[in-house]
Amino acid sequence: MIKDTFGRIHDYLRISLTDNCNLRCFYCMPEEKYAFAPAGKLMQVQEIETIAKLFVDHGVKKIRLTGGEPLVRKDAPKILKSLGKLNVELAITTNGIRVNEMLTELLEANIKTVNVSLDTLQREKFLKITRRDLFDRVRKNIDLLLENNVRVKINVVIMKGLNDDEILSFIELTKNHNLEVRFIEFMPFTGNLWTSNQVYTLHEILLKVSSRYDIIPVEPLPNDTSSKYRIDGHSGAFAVISTMSQPFCDTCNRMRLTADGKLKNCLFSKDETDLLGALRNGEDILPLITQTMMSKAKALGGQFSGVFEDIDVSKLENRSMITIGG
Ligand code: 5AD
Ligand code: SF4
Repeated sequence: MIKDTFGRIHDYLRISLTDNCNLRCFYCMPEEKYAFAPAGKLMQVQEIETIAKLFVDHGVKKIRLTGGEPLVRKDAPKILKSLGKLNVELAITTNGIRVNEMLTELLEANIKTVNVSLDTLQREKFLKITRRDLFDRVRKNIDLLLENNVRVKINVVIMKGLNDDEILSFIELTKNHNLEVRFIEFMPFTGNLWTSNQVYTLHEILLKVSSRYDIIPVEPLPNDTSSKYRIDGHSGAFAVISTMSQPFCDTCNRMRLTADGKLKNCLFSKDETDLLGALRNGEDILPLITQTMMSKAKALGGQFSGVFEDIDVSKLENRSMITIGG
């Protein structure tokens, strides 16, 4: 079992497959011209399998594939196939663009839940946020997943003045669609022009929703990183990931592997450990994993404390979101 110094058991690994993406969300890609990692720097199929197996042998129960956009990798079908064989719950976070092309592979890999990132239900706004006119495709692919009995969670990063006016429309979507809408508080990463006044908090979201609906809280599961709610008569549900206003670090069970094979013990950790380099050198990577996790900070990578309004984003040391993988 992989533990940290606070006794937290880490049984959930998020593996980023690539820092490339077929969208260009302004808050995810850094401002300056961004060069994607060259293919040789990325973990190859066999390397991903070797590392993933080691984690599973040491207690990992769930693996989530992330990006960039995981499904833009040409060998994504092979990766799905190899990880689908492991004794682990496999999940994926995608922007949904290539879900129709990859549906068979996703189903064969036994993926039960797909998290689709979608920040707006308006075509025009989708184009503005992602710089690509692909709203209809994503929307159709969400339906396609539901038709195939795949559970769907829609990730919505709420930013003040951008899409906070759509919170009730997203709730409306849960009326007849059995899916979970997850509102995510906007977080600071290198190059994403975060300011605290763009954060729309859990409290504000609940106020907005309660202006029209009676909210019923759902009992949380042990390692939940979101607060969940239901609304009477709705087939779906909604949740809020309140990383900024009310972090969930106390029960964190997550580790992250970047596409270039670096292990991060927290989304906000400064340090990372080069597992891929060590693996390629023929070293035993297990001690590197345990050491990395033993140095995990109590909360938020040790980079911020107190209220999020006081965060000095220029002092943060981290990667951009596209190179971490969410
Ligand atoms: N704050 C919150 N969520 C973010 N994501 C990307 N950047 C940010 C940010 N700055 C989301 C994506 C995706 C998930 C992996 O993380 O929209 O749904
Ligand atoms: Fe791509 Fe997701 Fe980043 Fe948008 S947020 S650019 S979909 S990785």
